[in-house]
Amino acid sequence: MKFLKIQNYNTLMKSIVLLLLCVVHVNAQVTLPSKQDGFWYKNRIANTKSIVIEAFFDPLCPDSRDSWPPLKLALQHYGSRLSLVVHPFPLPYHDNAFISSRAMHISNQLNTSATYRLLESFFDHQGRFYGNATFNLSRSSVVDKIARFTSNSIGNSHYAAVKVGFTDPKTDHATRISFKYGCVKGVYGAPFFFVNGFPLPDGGSPLDYKTWRDVIDPLISPEEQLRAENLNFFL
Ligand SMILES: *[C@@H]1O[C@H](CO)[C@@H](O)[C@H](O)[C@H]1NC(C)=O
Ligand SMILES: *[C@@H]1O[C@H](CO)[C@@H](O)[C@H](O)[C@H]1NC(C)=O
Ligand SMILES: *[C@@H]1O[C@H](CO)[C@@H](O)[C@H](O)[C@H]1NC(C)=O
Repeated sequence: MKFLKIQNYNTLMKSIVLLLLCVVHVNAQVTLPSKQDGFWYKNRIANTKSIVIEAFFDPLCPDSRDSWPPLKLALQHYGSRLSLVVHPFPLPYHDNAFISSRAMHISNQLNTSATYRLLESFFDHQGRFYGNATFNLSRSSVVDKIARFTSNSIGNSHYAAVKVGFTDPKTDHATRISFKYGCVKGVYGAPFFFVNGFPLPDGGSPLDYKTWRDVIDPLISPEEQLRAENLNFFL
């Protein structure tokens, strides 16, 4: 009798687990994007030997902003050994984060090499796009403000094209894909980093340069480390 009960219990648990798996499976049905998400830094696209950092940044998030200079230093230090791909991750509790993330997709479409310049411009002027600065503005005024800002950053001649970009469903879709990609990977804040596919602890808080060195140094051989040091010494 006891044995039977346990068996029933096991069967029940198995059914529950199966049911849960089905639910998870159904939820994971996102329209597959036609290409990988993200913007490669300096076009240093990863190869099989690269150490790959995936960074989820919200362009209007102060912690994302603060984490950028130390990461940039690390990229400079390790050179081509390190590849970075940035995914916009608009946090729902940051005003206009989705619009500014969409601006990154639009600018990437217009001029791939200007995307990081725009990201840095957002980081430098975040205060203009949330809180009191936009509290009483209509959505169309905010979009126009961000479109002007974007075209100033990537080149004024693009203003009309940027405005058109904001009416193109493809850029809306691309921004949703960025967000969903983060969700699929379990991202719940910004900045959020993965190294070679694995999440770094302290998701949602900025990492300083020393932490980056502590994370990356052990992944490369001592000879390579020395080469990186020397290279930077002579620069
Ligand atoms: C694209 O951006 C790069 C880097 O910011 C700039 O040098 C170049 O002139 C831009 N090209 C166009 C067509 O605007
Ligand atoms: C928004 O507009 C209301 C009504 O005009 C005004 O009282 C309020 O101070 C404004 N808020 C901000 C943050 O500008
Ligand atoms: C935002 O505006 C409101 C109303 O104008 C004001 O009371 C409040 O102090 C402002 N907040 C900040 C952070 O400036």
